[in-house]
Amino acid sequence: MKCVDDFRLKFGKQELVPIMIGGMGVDISTAELALAAAHLGGVGHISDAMINTVADRRYNAKFVKDKIKQYKFNVANTDKSVVQFDLGQLAEATAMHIGKTMEAKRGDGLIFVNCMEKLTMNAPRETLRVRMRAALDAGIDGITLAAGLHLGSFALIEDHPRFRDAKLGIIVSSLRALQLFLRKSLRTGRLPDYVVIEGPLAGGHLGFGMDWAEYDLATIVAEIRQFLLAEKLDIPLIPAGGVFTGSDAVAYLENGASAVQVATRFTVARECGLPEDVQQLYFKASEDQIEVNLISPTGYPMRMLTTSPAIGDGIRPNCEAYGYLLDANGCCSYITAYNREVAANPGVKRISVKDKTCLCTQMRNFDLWTCGHNAYRLKDTTHQLEDGSYQLLSAEHIFHDYQFSTDHKIALPD
Ligand SMILES: Cc1cc2nc3c(=O)[nH]c(=O)nc-3n(C[C@H](O)[C@H](O)[C@H](O)COP(=O)(O)O)c2cc1C
Repeated sequence: MKCVDDFRLKFGKQELVPIMIGGMGVDISTAELALAAAHLGGVGHISDAMINTVADRRYNAKFVKDKIKQYKFNVANTDKSVVQFDLGQLAEATAMHIGKTMEAKRGDGLIFVNCMEKLTMNAPRETLRVRMRAALDAGIDGITLAAGLHLGSFALIEDHPRFRDAKLGIIVSSLRALQLFLRKSLRTGRLPDYVVIEGPLAGGHLGFGMDWAEYDLATIVAEIRQFLLAEKLDIPLIPAGGVFTGSDAVAYLENGASAVQVATRFTVARECGLPEDVQQLYFKASEDQIEVNLISPTGYPMRMLTTSPAIGDGIRPNCEAYGYLLDANGCCSYITAYNREVAANPGVKRISVKDKTCLCTQMRNFDLWTCGHNAYRLKDTTHQLEDGSYQLLSAEHIFHDYQFSTDHKIALPD
């Protein structure tokens, strides 16, 4: 019976354990988690979501404080179009987080950065250009383009000296999205080095509508594989979403996938950025406490625990501090929803906004508990202790369980 370790992800001459830990925004997939994956010979991700905030927290920088100082005058204003990111500071924060992570890397694996296009940051093209170029300058091994079609993203870095040496990949949820990307990127004369195919059971935002349950990852992977074979394009395919055991992974690897991307099982690793009390809630979650809803202002459905404090919270929009989801016109659908509730509830101090959430603030505070569909099975991956809590795991333990287990078995920790 085969295990994941019988396969290798190949990038040219380089061979890796075919396990990629997916990016988990706002420092849930920490540098420590990515470093562990690289140390074990796989691929880890950090994320550049809210990177100024992350740099403040991790390296005692003051990017957010500086921004609030500059835009304090606008806090009560519903028009956020003046709130801009300082591109120099954005580059500096990126260099800090990625530079320090890459300096600490040991082992034969790789570290990529998850770069979401939906973080439009009030100047979509300019900020995305700075984010990607600063990541390449800081020595990142690769960039995974996420949360968006990224039709112009390759062009933003095509004159960068590392454009052809860094690994560049994209996350898609359909053949059509991949075809569009390939057609638009053709002009740069470069194919992606890998394609992550994210199915409907993944955590974070979904590349489907609210009809997500009608889709099936294996079917989408097969469709994309057929297309690439017909076009004679040799691009490693990496399915993601719902791969919970080594055997789940082997099923994809035996059908032509080059690796798998996994995330939910690592939310309960000690190296993960979630606070421990939140990790305990991930362990305890039951299946009916996991829902897909539309409260993210990105417009994409998102999967999360129904117990997330973010749901129904009515905090004042915090764009002067964050503002990562402001579109090119300085709008975010949370601002609209918040203003509507304020107008409808005059004099009420703590309003509730049900249809949207202030994603920046909630993710920054670890109050939006996004997870994959299988999060309710996390309790089966460890021991319950006498006090009712669950034992956290090491990233190494989870990684090795994926790598060596057979027959859908999950190894419990010592
Ligand atoms: C807590 C959490 C946060 C996530 N955040 C992001 C993100 O910021 N960007 C992204 O592209 N995918 C994100 N994802 C998706 C994962 O990278 C991954 O592709 C997916 O969850 C894999 O499925 P699994 O969780 O069932 O293993 C997130 C997933 C989780 C569980």
